[in-house]
Amino acid sequence: MTAQFPVARQRRLRRTSALRRMVAETRLHPADLMLPLFVKEGITEAQPVASMPGVVQHTRETLRKAAHEAVEAGVGGLVLFGVPVVKDGRGSAADDPAGIVQKSLRDLSADLGDTAVLTADLCLDEYTDHGHCGILTPAGEVDNDATLQRYAAIAVAQAAAGADVVAPSGMMDGQVAAIRTALDQAGYGNVAIMAYTAKYASAFYGPFRDAAECAPQFGDRAAYQQDPPNAEEALREVRLDLDEGADVIMVKPAMPYLDIVRRARDMVDVPVAAYQVSGEYAMIEAAAANGWIDRERVITESLIGIRRAGADIILTYWATEVARRLRTPS
Ligand code: PBG
Repeated sequence: MTAQFPVARQRRLRRTSALRRMVAETRLHPADLMLPLFVKEGITEAQPVASMPGVVQHTRETLRKAAHEAVEAGVGGLVLFGVPVVKDGRGSAADDPAGIVQKSLRDLSADLGDTAVLTADLCLDEYTDHGHCGILTPAGEVDNDATLQRYAAIAVAQAAAGADVVAPSGMMDGQVAAIRTALDQAGYGNVAIMAYTAKYASAFYGPFRDAAECAPQFGDRAAYQQDPPNAEEALREVRLDLDEGADVIMVKPAMPYLDIVRRARDMVDVPVAAYQVSGEYAMIEAAAANGWIDRERVITESLIGIRRAGADIILTYWATEVARRLRTPS
């Protein structure tokens, strides 16, 4: 017969919500959340993104309002994506001082000062007519080194416009080193790099490509983004980005890659960010719209899961909503 006592009483500390709150190992805090925002040139009203209910392409004015609301809610940072009117082979608008992101960075930097971390996504896909993240060779492949020169110029333009952080998302080899050198030489040694270090060639980016109008016109991004089956390769990317001077490393998408978030967190001593991407957002919104899941609980659980896996910072389209909820617990 098995002894009845002592019994491990796992349930004692689960009995009331106060007990559960006291012993919670993982907490969400508004300051750990970053809000991605889209700003589109040449529109007079914000445009809804059909595949991301609740997300819009902003005008410069509505962007300022959304940024203000995020900061009021205590959101830690904003990540800006630009959608230009004119696209070309080299993505000229990306580093144009009069380009939409540069103008918006100036707006937000003046409005917000140091109240939130102003971050600029640094890539070419929103700016190229072919929709790839870099300059193409005549054969239609992305030319790594020609692309690095463009990234360096974009980083300097974004820093000059007031970005605290630049976030290279193109997965070119050597991008962090090229950007660090360019920033330092231009006198922007204080601007940090949040590197999209382990960015997978993911089908979860589908809705984002509507929002940023950047679907590749031919082919896909599998030749530069990471292959979903690979984890060791992600850790190699982490080591390289740290060597090159990344200040924050990022794993993207978040939920299908929580093992990578955990392994990266265990490996490095810099902050680890995870990007809960457009497809993760859209799936939850769609299921909730159908009444199939409890929207708020699923959102919170998804974010807690990402934190528990080891993310210090989470990029999420729900940042403002969740930050507000955290401030006024129901
Ligand atoms: C590339 C970029 C992408 C995302 C962020 N930066 C898209 C891609 O690589 O195709 C995806 C973000 C999301 O899906 O929410 N500039």
